[in-house]
Amino acid sequence: MSRKPPIKALVFDAYGTLFDVHSVIALCDELFPGRGAQLSQTWRAKQLEYTWLKSLMGRYEDFEKVTEAALKFACKSLKLNCQLESRKRLMQAYLHLKPYPEVKEALAALSHCKLAILSNGSPRMLKALVKNTGLSNTFDAVISVHEVKIFKPDPKVYALAQNKLKVPKNNIGFVSSNFWDICGAASFGLRTF
Ligand code: LAC
Repeated sequence: MSRKPPIKALVFDAYGTLFDVHSVIALCDELFPGRGAQLSQTWRAKQLEYTWLKSLMGRYEDFEKVTEAALKFACKSLKLNCQLESRKRLMQAYLHLKPYPEVKEALAALSHCKLAILSNGSPRMLKALVKNTGLSNTFDAVISVHEVKIFKPDPKVYALAQNKLKVPKNNIGFVSSNFWDICGAASFGLRTF
């Protein structure tokens, strides 16, 4: 039986894996009563769609811009009148997303490995999110696609993990709740969870 190479680093996706993108539902509901869940779902779906389109068209823009454009689309398509002030509050909420309940304990239990985030998020968004959730001292690296100016699942993104952490790809475990992110990471050669 062939042995799998040991995992020396664990690299996590951010949005949807460590941090609950739908923790904005409460604010969405406050601003647009009864429409929160629908707004949050549409916002997230369009945000991802924009990343894929922008990558294919070679028109990278940072994730903050993409996220705001997706929010504008979501509000318009759901006929919600979202003025600048509300949009600012919703964008701000993205810097305070809640980690899933098991995240802190799980990361502490895994701290014998190098730990990192690899995300579509812009450096500014990720820095704020990690700080605001009390995880600043948890990671060896917080890696943004901004360095290669293309979004997941482009292989250049996953290559950043091995280059930044200086760990060969078959010793890296990549963790994501996004199936297409897992496909990209596995296709590049990371071990996926
Ligand atoms: C990220 C997106 C995929 O954090 O959720 O990269």
